[in-house]
Amino acid sequence: MSTGRFISFEGIDGAGKTTHIDALERLWREAGHEVVRTREPGGTALAEKLRGLFLHDAMDPLTEALLVFAGRRDHIKQVIEPALARGAWVLCDRFTDATFAYQGGGRGFDLQVLTQLEDWVQSGLQPDLTLLFDLPPQVAAARLTQARQPDRFEAQDLDFFERVRAGYRQRMEADPGRFVVIAADQTQTEVAHDIAQALKARGFA
Ligand code: TYD
Repeated sequence: MSTGRFISFEGIDGAGKTTHIDALERLWREAGHEVVRTREPGGTALAEKLRGLFLHDAMDPLTEALLVFAGRRDHIKQVIEPALARGAWVLCDRFTDATFAYQGGGRGFDLQVLTQLEDWVQSGLQPDLTLLFDLPPQVAAARLTQARQPDRFEAQDLDFFERVRAGYRQRMEADPGRFVVIAADQTQTEVAHDIAQALKARGFA
C-alpha cells in the first residue's frame, strides 16, 4: 500500500515557488522522510527531452497538450508511482493543474480534451496536496529576471497570465480540498510563514 505523499507546487511564472520548495525539501529530509524532488515538464530522461521541445519549438495546441501528457505518463510510471509505493514524499514543481491553467486557460485549449487525457494518463492519480502560489501577473512579471532568454510561455503578455491565473482558480474551485492557496504577493518570510501554518493545519508538518 502506498504510504508516500504527493505534493505539487503551482503558480504563474514569477510566483517565487522555487525558494519555498527548496526549504520544504530540506525540512522534510531533516524530518527523516525520503524526499523525491522533481518537476514537470520533465522528471525523467525522456520527459526532459520533451520539455526542451515543449518550451522552445512552435507547435499547434493539441500537439502541445499531447507532448506534455506523454512526458507526464513517463514521469508517473518511472518516478512518481515507484516513489509513492516505497513511501517517499514526492515534491513536484508543477503537474497537471499547470496544463489546465496554461494550455486550457492561457491558450484556450479544449478542457474536455485535457480531462480525457488526464483520465488516460493518470488513471485517477492526483497530488494529495497542491500549494498554489497566487499573485497578480504584474507583480510576477516584475520579478522575472530580465537576464535570461524567456521560453515560449514566459514570453507571453499579461493577458495570457491573467487567463492562466483564472485557469488555476477554476481548477481549485473544482477540487478545493486538495489546494492550499498561498498569497505570493508578500515577503518571502511571510509566504514561508503562511506555508508552515497551512501545512500544519493539514498534517503535513
Ligand atoms: P518552469 O517549470 O516554471 O521552469 P523554469 O522555472 O525553469 O522556467 O517552466 C515551465 C513552463 O512550462 C512554465 O511557463 C509553465 C509551462 N507549463 C505548461 O504550459 N504546461 C504544463 O503542463 C506544465 C507542467 C508547464
